[in-house]
Amino acid sequence: MSSRLIYNIRQLVGARADTAPLRGAALAQLPIIDNSWIHVEGDRIAAFGPMRALPPDLALLTGGPEGIDATGSFVLPAWCDSHTHLVFAGSREAEFVDKLKGLSYAEINAKGGGILNSARRLADTPEDRLFTTAWQRLEELARLGTGAIEIKSGYGLTVEGELKMLRVIKQLKQRSRLSIKATFLGAHTYPEAYRQDHAGYIDLIIREMLPVIAAEKLADYIDVFCEEGFFSPAETETIVRAGLDHGLRPKIHANQLHLSGGVETGVRLGALSVDHLETMDDAAIATLAGSATIGTLLPTAAFFLRMPFQPARALIDAGCAIALASDLNPGSSPSGNMNLVVAMACIGMRMLPEEAINAATINGAFAMSLGDTLGSITVGKMANLIITRPIPSLAYLPYAFGSNLIGQVMIRGEFIT
Ligand code: NIG
Ligand code: FE
Repeated sequence: MSSRLIYNIRQLVGARADTAPLRGAALAQLPIIDNSWIHVEGDRIAAFGPMRALPPDLALLTGGPEGIDATGSFVLPAWCDSHTHLVFAGSREAEFVDKLKGLSYAEINAKGGGILNSARRLADTPEDRLFTTAWQRLEELARLGTGAIEIKSGYGLTVEGELKMLRVIKQLKQRSRLSIKATFLGAHTYPEAYRQDHAGYIDLIIREMLPVIAAEKLADYIDVFCEEGFFSPAETETIVRAGLDHGLRPKIHANQLHLSGGVETGVRLGALSVDHLETMDDAAIATLAGSATIGTLLPTAAFFLRMPFQPARALIDAGCAIALASDLNPGSSPSGNMNLVVAMACIGMRMLPEEAINAATINGAFAMSLGDTLGSITVGKMANLIITRPIPSLAYLPYAFGSNLIGQVMIRGEFIT
């Protein structure tokens, strides 16, 4: 079994053993060990502590090939990105430029843009090509410190297309070192052919897609875009209940553009998370705060669409459990850089650096049901670690938002950078 000792760490960040997502004031508590070491055996965290208490047998590793001198650097749990659309067939920067020129979302849709644009391109892209591009994106994100990631379907919108996407995600799961969760998002939008036949498409999801997905174990969760002009709360409930019958817990796109009822619907159906939350009122905040459902905030999506940021302070003050994720997708968040997500959460939503780091690590892990194996520095957990470049303080991470401050990334005990 491989053995590695990272030592002379300026601060070891996130040493904790919580068994539930952090909420309210606890989100700001980020346990830190100054001048410390961490020992990794195989793919797991074996031990850690302050340098003054480094056991003599481990002290032998310093200076040798198994020792990594981290003088001046911080060590954190790798990012846990609990909401992405990482598998897609092509970028959409032409729509981005059209928007800069003043075209509205509706005009872009009328020109064949948006989710349906991605769906058309996905239909024309073979599975192996989809896999290759998704793999390259995943590798880039790992180098930026992401160690666990949730990936959705939702650009297929046909039986064949949705299964193709989910099979690509399954291959990523099998071949990547990262921990990956798959979410079935057949209900991302109504495809062209079913614009006037919502019941017909919902039937297709329930009768044709879900049974195959369940039989081939292609998904861990089910998602619905609960939004005006997309899926109503009633339609969301029908689809989610069918998913639950197949053992898929919901993670819902809720309250992005309007008070869609998505938060209430998700909470009522026992969703693991309700995601986006740009548009919240007191009732939606209270409902979320009184539940076990995690609210996942996607600040880079709000930024890219020039929308008001999610009301993180109100959510935290109300006692909600919140996570941060990238929403990586070609339409509303072309970046999956979690360092940027953390910075934007501080800059745009006034989250404290400690809160943002907790929301992007331990709470993100819980939003993928991985809180028992990832997201913190805990003996026995997976050794997914970020070693920063030498930096003056932890707050420097979100402060110097344009710099790449990632020095090395360890995934399952191996350095990938
Ligand atoms: O999470 N809001 C719905 N879906 C994506 C955007 C999808 C797209 O434009 O391709 C999101 O923001
Ligand atoms: Fe999304």
